[in-house]
Amino acid sequence: MTDVLGSDARLYWEGKAEEYDRNRGIIKTQTGLTERGLELLKPDSKHGSTMLDIGCGTGISTKIIMDNGFSVIGMDISFPMVEIAKRKGLNVLVGDFRFLPFRDKSFQHVFSVSTLQWITGRDEEEIREKYRMVAREIYRVTKERGSVFIQFFPATEGEMEITLKEFKRAGFKGYLVEDEFGDKRKNKRYILLNK
Ligand SMILES: C[S@@+](CC[C@H](N)C(=O)[O-])C[C@H]1O[C@@H](n2cnc3c(N)ncnc32)[C@H](O)[C@@H]1O
Repeated sequence: MTDVLGSDARLYWEGKAEEYDRNRGIIKTQTGLTERGLELLKPDSKHGSTMLDIGCGTGISTKIIMDNGFSVIGMDISFPMVEIAKRKGLNVLVGDFRFLPFRDKSFQHVFSVSTLQWITGRDEEEIREKYRMVAREIYRVTKERGSVFIQFFPATEGEMEITLKEFKRAGFKGYLVEDEFGDKRKNKRYILLNK
């Protein structure tokens, strides 16, 4: 598998979306990650500030963001995943994170949980180029002084640093946060960014 971005990611969830949405382990993990993201980002939800949830899937993360007072739009490349999120009454659409279907500076906050690992490539350079593209797009749709939370499952130790570098190159200020659980393999790392 050299590139699961795009059509392959769309195909992957055919017939698996309902199962994803019902799986207790998945719900628990995604809920924990989303709540941790909101805590770290400390975003201001006072006036229903706008947030984009990239790779919203069936809306597990989107619903939590909405329940925290944000005006949230979820976006995902998979039709069956988005269909389930729609059934929950969430504001979601189908789209690809390489080409965000939004105007410049549309969102105060951008959020993405367990999604960017879909970026793969033949070698480090190709992966870097893809992250560069996604970082530029996220920068473009983020308002001035906006903030971003990214959690994903990097394929290699270094991929998190590559990703952070590309976000900084796009114009963000940012850093990595690591939650330690005693066993290094269980540690969780996140990217926090400010425009
Ligand atoms: C593990 S799910 C996470 C869903 C959600 N954030 C949650 O917490 O439950 C990852 C999602 O990323 C989406 N995805 C993969 N490639 C994408 C792309 N190029 N653009 C937008 N979404 C993509 C997949 O379709 C999938 O629904």
